Amino acid sequence: MTLRFSDHTPATVEADLLVLGVTTDTLADRLQGALGAFGAQVAAAAEAESYTGKLATTLVVRTLGALPVRRVCVVGTGDGSPGDLRRAAGAGAMVARNAGDQTIALALGALDNTSASTVAEGVIAGAYRFDRYKAAAARKAAPETVLVLESDAADAAFGLAIAKAQSLARDLVNEPADAIYPATLAAQARALATDRMTVEVWEGDKLVEERMNGMLTVGKGSDRGPRFIHMTYRPAGTPRKRIGLVGKGVTFDAGGLSIKTAAGMLTMRCDMGGSAAVIGVMKAIAELEPDVEVHGFIGAAENMLGGSACKLGDIITYRNGKTVEIHNTDAEGRLVMADCLCVASELGLDGLVDIATLTGACVVALGEHYTGLFTQDDAMATALLASADAAGEGLWRMPLPDFYKDKLKGEWGDIKNVGGRAAGATTAGLFLSEFVENTPWAHLDIAGPAFLDKTTRHFVSGGTGAMVPTLTRWILS
Ligand code: BES
Ligand code: MN
Ligand code: ZN
Repeated sequence: MTLRFSDHTPATVEADLLVLGVTTDTLADRLQGALGAFGAQVAAAAEAESYTGKLATTLVVRTLGALPVRRVCVVGTGDGSPGDLRRAAGAGAMVARNAGDQTIALALGALDNTSASTVAEGVIAGAYRFDRYKAAAARKAAPETVLVLESDAADAAFGLAIAKAQSLARDLVNEPADAIYPATLAAQARALATDRMTVEVWEGDKLVEERMNGMLTVGKGSDRGPRFIHMTYRPAGTPRKRIGLVGKGVTFDAGGLSIKTAAGMLTMRCDMGGSAAVIGVMKAIAELEPDVEVHGFIGAAENMLGGSACKLGDIITYRNGKTVEIHNTDAEGRLVMADCLCVASELGLDGLVDIATLTGACVVALGEHYTGLFTQDDAMATALLASADAAGEGLWRMPLPDFYKDKLKGEWGDIKNVGGRAAGATTAGLFLSEFVENTPWAHLDIAGPAFLDKTTRHFVSGGTGAMVPTLTRWILS
């Protein structure tokens, strides 16, 4: 897909679809102003369909030759915030996507380079499709050209880099667990290696030597062994900061012996959503080349059942010396993440963010549109919340008080891997905190946002690449 800025007006541009931004207050004036005489007909259609221009709602009208575009898609742009612009652009692109349109013209009002980037991200996310497993006849080509009208912006390269990275993360999540498992996930990371980006992978005996006992234990029930992936981006000059990302890469979560229900297991290929986000961000970073050293750590394992699967009551001894009792093999994400957090803590980084589809409790608390943010570091929280705002992604801070650590007290070892039903997302975060040392750290629980069961106005169901836009902005800020 190519994106170009165009001097054409909505009334003169040629395209399959014109996406015209409106607000509820200015609907009639905007239609008239942008579309002239034809605007009155669109206004009449709006009236007839009770269309009022609410955020990301669309009204599609055929022009039948009245304008150079074939169809007009009116879309509500809400308050014009990054989140609303992203939704509006995405909803318009979704209409084009569903019709198989090749050229989209976007008239969402004046944009600067920043908001043009957000719009670019929204369009690419809305037009996204994953249909490589569909019959050829059912597949549609992605929109080829996006023309941005009415804009002062000249450059959306930032947004395009993020959008491509987010699409990669979505592809990785959408691929079946039979295609993306620890070894192939590592291969995907390796494929991003450049002069500035190194990718190191540990497997087999190396993992034993390095005492990566969490992922080794979780991976025991699978025929496909675990991998530890360490991607490092180094800027040309001296780095301004050195930061790290840690992603959960459970390529399939059957629950282990604490087996999930069939319904609960169906979409558990999404359990590597955190690692997909890390790979996506690293791809964007390699393209945007910030003056920051960025480490991406991924713990990749399959949580399966088998003759050598780990058992309840087993005790893991970690690289940092702590011991963990397994009370539920379905709380495996934290076991895998703990290894990575130990390694990351050894590098003396200036900041560390982990991202994981960690708990059903976080889905219950925040749903699919908000990522849970857990940290005791107010500066990290402020920076991440600001980046999420700028990206237009939902992020909500949750409590992480030390006194809930009581719930994790072990019986035979130091701690156990579950803290009970109450505050389940928080106790999961506190578990992780046991493996972070001397590093400002925040934990993102994307169990809700990583994967959509139902298509929304601007996102097709499946993997979302959630937090790729936020984390990329956070690193660059
Ligand atoms: N991968 C799941 C969490 C999850 C749930 C992700 C729904 C996406 C959608 C995680 O490994 C898990 O099973 N967590 C358990 C923890 C419990 C046993 C303490 C959960 O949340 O039920
Ligand atoms: Mn699980
Ligand atoms: Zn899991």
